[in-house]
Amino acid sequence: MSIILEVKNLVKSFPEVCAVKGVSFSIPRGICFGLLGPNGAGKTTTIEVIEMILNNDAGEILYKGKPRGASFREEVGIQFQNTELPQYLTVKETLETFRNLYGRRADIDDLIETCQLEELLDRDNRKISGGQKQRLLLAMALANDPELVFLDEPTTGLDPQARRHLWEIVRTIKRKGKTVVLTTHYMEEAQILCDRIAIMDYGEIIAEGTPQELLNRHRAGTRIHLDIIPEKEKLEGFPWQWFDNDGFLEIHTDSVNHSIEELMRRGIDLSSMTIRSHNLEDLFIELTGHQLRA
Ligand SMILES: Nc1ncnc2c1ncn2[C@@H]1O[C@H](COP(=O)(O)OP(=O)(O)O)[C@@H](O)[C@H]1O
Ligand SMILES: [Mg+2]
Repeated sequence: MSIILEVKNLVKSFPEVCAVKGVSFSIPRGICFGLLGPNGAGKTTTIEVIEMILNNDAGEILYKGKPRGASFREEVGIQFQNTELPQYLTVKETLETFRNLYGRRADIDDLIETCQLEELLDRDNRKISGGQKQRLLLAMALANDPELVFLDEPTTGLDPQARRHLWEIVRTIKRKGKTVVLTTHYMEEAQILCDRIAIMDYGEIIAEGTPQELLNRHRAGTRIHLDIIPEKEKLEGFPWQWFDNDGFLEIHTDSVNHSIEELMRRGIDLSSMTIRSHNLEDLFIELTGHQLRA
C-alpha cells in the first residue's frame, strides 16, 4: 500500500513547553489513522504542524513522498478542534460559501448525503445541536473533495448517540477511499474506527500499530470484575493476578472459564460479576501509569 503521509522526527516547542518531542509515523493511503492520547498530549500540535497551520522546529513531513507544496493545500480537508460557524447563515449557505472557496469542489448533494444534513439545510447555524454542528464541520472539511482529511476530536463532548452517528459518517468517508487522520481521547473510538493507532503522551508516541497488534503486544487477557472484595483468606493462593481496588476486585486472567470455576470452588459470591476483554485503556495505563481521560 502506498504511503500518503510520512512524518519524521517532528519537534515543536512553545515558549513554556515542548509539545511534540520527535514524533514519527507514516500513513498508508485509504486508512483511518488515529492519534490517541489524553488532553495536552500534543495531538493538535502535531496535526496543526502537518496542516501547515504551525511551523515546526525540526523534522520532516512528506506528502505522497515529497515536501508539502500547493497540491497539499488543495488535496487536504481540515476539521479543527474548535471552530466558530458564521452567524446569520443557514447550514446550506454555509456549506455553499465554503465550497466556493475552492477550485476543486465536492458534489454538494453528495456532501449533504454523506454528512446527513438533508433535514438541516434551511436551519440557522445558531440553532443546531452539537452533533449537527460536528456534521456540518465535517461537510465543510470535505468541501474540496480532499484525499486526506484531518479530524481533530470530532466527537468530544457529544452524547453517545451523536458520537455513533459521526462514526458512521467517518466510515462512509473511508469507503469513498479517503485517508482519515483522527485525534481522540476516547479509546473505544480509536479501537472501533482506526486501522492504525499511535498512542501519544507528553509529546511522544509511546506505542503504535493496528488496534489488534497493540492489544497483543502488551499483557493481554480478560478482566473479571467483582463489585465486592471477598475475605482475604478466600483468595489465598488464587492462581491469577488480582487487584483489590477501591471497593472492587479485578482479576486479570488468560482463562475465564477456569478462573470462574476457581472462584466458585472458593465460595465467592459472583452476583456482581462483569467480564470484559483487555482494551486500549488498560494498555495506556500499563504504559503510562495514568488514565487516558485524567
Ligand atoms: N499555542 C500554544 N501556546 C502555548 N502552548 C501551547 C499552545 N498550544 C498547545 N500548547 C501546549 O502544548 C501541549 C500540547 O497541546 P495540544 O497539542 O493541544 O494537545 P492535545 O491536542 O493532545 O490535547 C500542551 O501542554 C499545551 O498546553
Ligand atoms: Mg487537541
